[in-house]
Amino acid sequence: MSMRPEFALAAAAALIATAAIASPGWAATPSPNLGRAPGPAELSAVDISIAPDGRGLPAGSGTVEQGAAVYAAKCQACHGANGVGGPNDRLTGGVGSLATPKPVKTIASYWPYATTVFDYVRRAMPITAPQSLTDDEVYAVTAYLLSVDGIVAKDASLDARSLPKVQMPNRNGFVSWEPKERPKGR
Ligand code: HEC
Repeated sequence: MSMRPEFALAAAAALIATAAIASPGWAATPSPNLGRAPGPAELSAVDISIAPDGRGLPAGSGTVEQGAAVYAAKCQACHGANGVGGPNDRLTGGVGSLATPKPVKTIASYWPYATTVFDYVRRAMPITAPQSLTDDEVYAVTAYLLSVDGIVAKDASLDARSLPKVQMPNRNGFVSWEPKERPKGR
């Protein structure tokens, strides 16, 4: 059967109108009505990503000394003294080992940005109680971990201004997968 387009349209409209009358609920709620828009407080609670350049870092600060205490109380059982020898991931040492036959991947040897340490620890650690640390504690434990390999000084204090300036040893050890110039004609 062939139908002229305007008839097809009218037929479809009639069908929709009939359906609307047959089930008034459908007409009143044209969406599946799943969920609701989150409020600003709900959004800010999950909007905690820190950019490599430090955008999004919160107020607060923490010293290496304070971080050593946080580490001993809340991290050492899983990650070992000074970040080595625990049942879970090694966090320190291995700087310069990546291109050797026995690479040791740690924050110090591998991670390109110190700001990522803050983001990761705040978001995910301790793994049994993620997001339980205060921002000051996260700055402090980040400072402590970086101090173990001399990336920051033993008397360092980190905050939103100083953390993005920390130069990680493997900062330039990554290559971009993006071609520098797009091939012509694309
Ligand atoms: C109950 C054990 C446990 C505790 C306590 C804990 N972690 Fe972890 N941590 C883990 C596990 C398991 C992983 C690996 C998670 C994964 O790969 O998904 C991990 C991964 C990490 C990593 C990423 C390592 C890498 O190179 O990928 C960092 C950084 C880290 N933890 C820091 C901390 C800090 C800082 C604390 C204390 C505030 C802490 N962790 C407390 C178990 C723990």
